[in-house]
Amino acid sequence: MIRGFELTLLGGPWGRRLAPRRAWIDDLPWQEPLPQDATGARVVWTRTAFSEYASAAAFAELTGALLAAGAPIDLVAAAGDFVVDEIVHTELAARLAAALGGAVALEVDLGRLVRPPTPAAAADPLLWAAELAVRTSCIGESLTVPMLRVARDVSGSPLIGAALTAIVADEAAHAQLGWWLLDWAAPRLDEAARDHLAGVATAAIAGFAPLLDGDCHTSGLGAVACDHYDPAFRAALAHAVVRPLADRGIVVSASLATARRGPASAADAEPAERHTMRVREERAAAGT
Ligand SMILES: [Fe+2]
Ligand SMILES: [Fe+2]
Repeated sequence: MIRGFELTLLGGPWGRRLAPRRAWIDDLPWQEPLPQDATGARVVWTRTAFSEYASAAAFAELTGALLAAGAPIDLVAAAGDFVVDEIVHTELAARLAAALGGAVALEVDLGRLVRPPTPAAAADPLLWAAELAVRTSCIGESLTVPMLRVARDVSGSPLIGAALTAIVADEAAHAQLGWWLLDWAAPRLDEAARDHLAGVATAAIAGFAPLLDGDCHTSGLGAVACDHYDPAFRAALAHAVVRPLADRGIVVSASLATARRGPASAADAEPAERHTMRVREERAAAGT
């Protein structure tokens, strides 16, 4: 069902349970005055909030697949723990959008946060876990880490730079989980499975949606213009994704290693009414 993207907090014991994980957000230098007319940055942080939300869904799905595949329990625990990381990132991105004058309107379908398994993976939890890991960790997170570093370096804002530094530290671990999962699963992934995963990876790379290109012309406040984005993206794709996949017998098209990211796609996040996404705290009626 399509709906406007909005976040709420329930509070009470659930707020207290989450508090230690999100406390660092309050320590960021929020007193910094930020421009209120940087539309590109508002788009970037709104999209980022939703992307982080979708990442939480992906790690939740991966956690279930790892449990069904009998994966090592420390790997399962890490995947489950990353759901919390991504929820905290979601809140941070939403607060940054608010600090920039308000989030843009964003219509989302919460029933389609995670791409469903391929027919082959639907009947094989290990292959489903590997598909999710390739898409989410080995590609999504591995590409996100270097791109967020670029965004940090050109942010021009101590607040946003500090926020991106903290997010990158988490995302680097999220990327590593995929490679460790593939190495653990390697004895059970035959040539057909690796070829299958190569197809999954190729499609995921082709569909990788840039989040940082508010208008492709402006860098700063979390946005990255094309002249900074494109060379960094090509380098990250080759070194952080294509090569380590190939090292594990998952060979994607060589042309993808030099791919240019697609055109900016702001169609799903047109700047519109301000304050359409907000973090709302609903105190629990009891037990607060
Ligand atoms: Fe994240
Ligand atoms: Fe992540």
